[in-house]
Amino acid sequence: MTKSNRVAVITGASSGIGEAIAKTLVSNGYKVALLARRLDRISTLADQIGNGSMAIQADVTDRASIVAAASRVESELGGADVVINNAGVMLTAPFGSDRRAEHRQMVETNLLGAMTVTEVFLDQLRASEGDLVNISSVAARVAPAGFAAYSAAKWGLNGWSESLRVELQPDIRVMVIEPGAVATELSDHITHEDSQKLDQEYRDNVAMPAQDIADVVAFALSRPKRITLNEILVRPTIQAM
Ligand SMILES: NC(=O)c1ccc[n+]([C@@H]2O[C@H](COP(=O)([O-])OP(=O)(O)OC[C@H]3O[C@@H](n4cnc5c(N)ncnc54)[C@H](OP(=O)(O)O)[C@@H]3O)[C@@H](O)[C@H]2O)c1
Repeated sequence: MTKSNRVAVITGASSGIGEAIAKTLVSNGYKVALLARRLDRISTLADQIGNGSMAIQADVTDRASIVAAASRVESELGGADVVINNAGVMLTAPFGSDRRAEHRQMVETNLLGAMTVTEVFLDQLRASEGDLVNISSVAARVAPAGFAAYSAAKWGLNGWSESLRVELQPDIRVMVIEPGAVATELSDHITHEDSQKLDQEYRDNVAMPAQDIADVVAFALSRPKRITLNEILVRPTIQAM
């Protein structure tokens, strides 16, 4: 893959897929701005991967923290060429359970958070004629019981991305990546006990490593500007749903 000297902003870079994307893009020559709430994790990662990587504590549900992050990316890295909306939570539980706050948190983080980050960084992407990558999910195509709010958020992310594709291309490319099960800490945060157990068992049997998704993102970004991989569904081969 050809080396890049572009600047990528990655939300949710403190673990899992975001962390793997950060490492992969840095090995391809990118400078990265790592955004997440856990500053200790992104600071350690920034030191580890080097190449001028920056750790910026930010919460995608807090617009002021994203505005502050964008201003640092502009002044310290010269602006974003790539924005990767990866921050997300998957707090599965029956919709009829008492997890109202978690249902809202999924929509506020996975969908509205991505909208906020994109809106705030849009001028930088316009200036660089850059790329927007939205990490969606296979749950934007299938919706098992317990996934109502998660699927709503990811389905919403896909619909929003499709309209952005029409509005922003050809200046800014819009790509949606839909991973199947990936071995990360995503399901560790599920508080509904039965849902957590079910998800963990499933994940233990079928999940692919986060690196598989990072490689796909790096490949999509490395395509020449004349084409865009607008939507990529990546399941582990043994995953049926
Ligand atoms: N693992 C899978 O099977 C799978 C499948 C399809 C799609 N995905 C999607 O892939 C993305 C990454 O998930 P993952 O599997 O890598 O899980 P993960 O390891 O739990 O990573 C989630 C990341 O999102 C960040 N985050 C959560 N809430 C945030 C907020 N309010 N503001 C900023 N950052 C926030 C977390 O960082 P902090 O806690 O430090 O803020 C963390 O870095 C998510 O969008 C997820 O929906 C995952």
